[in-house]
Amino acid sequence: QQQQPVPLSASEPGNFVYDTMKDRVPRILTKCIDVCHKKVYILHKDFGEEGRLDCQSVIGQLSQLRTEIMTNKPLTVLDDKLADCYIWNNRFNEYVSIHKSSPSWFDAPWLYAECFCYRKIMSILSKSKYLQNFDVFSDQKKLALTQSLPAVKNLTEFLNEVSHGNLSDSEMLKLRFQDFLHISLWGNKCDLSLSGGEENSQNNKEPHKNLTVLEPFLLHDSTNRIFAHLQENTSKAVVDIILDNSGFELFTDLVFAEFLLAYKLATQVRFHPKTMPWFVSDVTPNDFRETINFLLHDESDILRNLASKWKQRLEDKSFLLFSEESITYFWTLPDPFCFMKTVSPTLHNILENSKLLIFKGDLNYRKLVSDWNWPHDTSFCKALRGFSPAPLCSLRTLKAPLVVGLTDEDVQSAVKKNCDWMVTGKYAVVQSSM
Ligand code: F6P
Ligand code: MG
Repeated sequence: QQQQPVPLSASEPGNFVYDTMKDRVPRILTKCIDVCHKKVYILHKDFGEEGRLDCQSVIGQLSQLRTEIMTNKPLTVLDDKLADCYIWNNRFNEYVSIHKSSPSWFDAPWLYAECFCYRKIMSILSKSKYLQNFDVFSDQKKLALTQSLPAVKNLTEFLNEVSHGNLSDSEMLKLRFQDFLHISLWGNKCDLSLSGGEENSQNNKEPHKNLTVLEPFLLHDSTNRIFAHLQENTSKAVVDIILDNSGFELFTDLVFAEFLLAYKLATQVRFHPKTMPWFVSDVTPNDFRETINFLLHDESDILRNLASKWKQRLEDKSFLLFSEESITYFWTLPDPFCFMKTVSPTLHNILENSKLLIFKGDLNYRKLVSDWNWPHDTSFCKALRGFSPAPLCSLRTLKAPLVVGLTDEDVQSAVKKNCDWMVTGKYAVVQSSM
């Protein structure tokens, strides 16, 4: 008899989740503190003593947060004026009423604790006078994009090459669809939270040529099923991409979206960013716009042309960016997606109009499957626990110790090659609910 799966937590010393809370998250906070230290001088220069004190206070609170995490103190209720504040406090109170004690950093469900860390950073900043709109991760995200430029250019050349070729043959279309989907999948290797803020650029300068090298690391691939689904009844096809990371990954998502529109596999692509700076490198509406603007000013013609096409797409709404907080707030709650219908019925309604929901990345996957330690052979659909506003798929490189929808053989062969197969971002899955 298999035991009921439970949410992952950091309570077991030595495992990946524990190490994340003990090392990775504090390292991320140290970076935030360093970034704010650099602001002290600027704020002092611009706003005098008041500016300096404001910044020092933020630094003090971030340092306190870091200490509280490292010493497994209780989480706290929030006291800011952000719209989702009461939901977080409800979660806190719900926890207390079930467990008869406050959640603490290592004992609370990992998903809740880790999300709370980013929300708490936001809370601290939102109460500052001069740093309330400051994205502490912005410079890291920009640098990652700049460093990925050779790969960005190469991928643009590939996209142009494909569009000058003939894809009237359905088999050829399917192959190229697979290429662009896989490029977007492997783009998810580039995030700043697994590496504690060290690494997020695409070092391989020819991403599409690298696909065959990566193929053995793809443990489950529903790409053909997704393609077949998109080919059915193409007259009105809205596709939603629930974004993950800024930088190279976002570029690969935009390229995939461009391919879907150009080959009439979609009539509109809607993008879902995060309301606030999140898990270091996640896309905010600002990152999305700045990425297109940055490419618009690149020295290379092909990048400028592609970016102006995307600007046009945003104007004619074939690309739609959801930036209203009233719609996007759900993505930065600690809630598994199966609670979306009750917690954010508006967002659920929007997604119901979609032909396909594409969830990018590891954290979205964790939320799809409730961050539970399911047996690996649990079906993906079962792990969704009824979440099904529309047909959906997940493109995820594995960076957390949970995965479903795999056979015993898949698991054995991955373990044989690498005992850390679930947490390095080296392996990946493409899974779908269809
Ligand atoms: O700790 C690593 C980690 O922060 C995971 O907690 C999280 O799921 C992942 O990195 C973020 O990855 P992604 O950007 O793919 O969601
Ligand atoms: Mg991310």
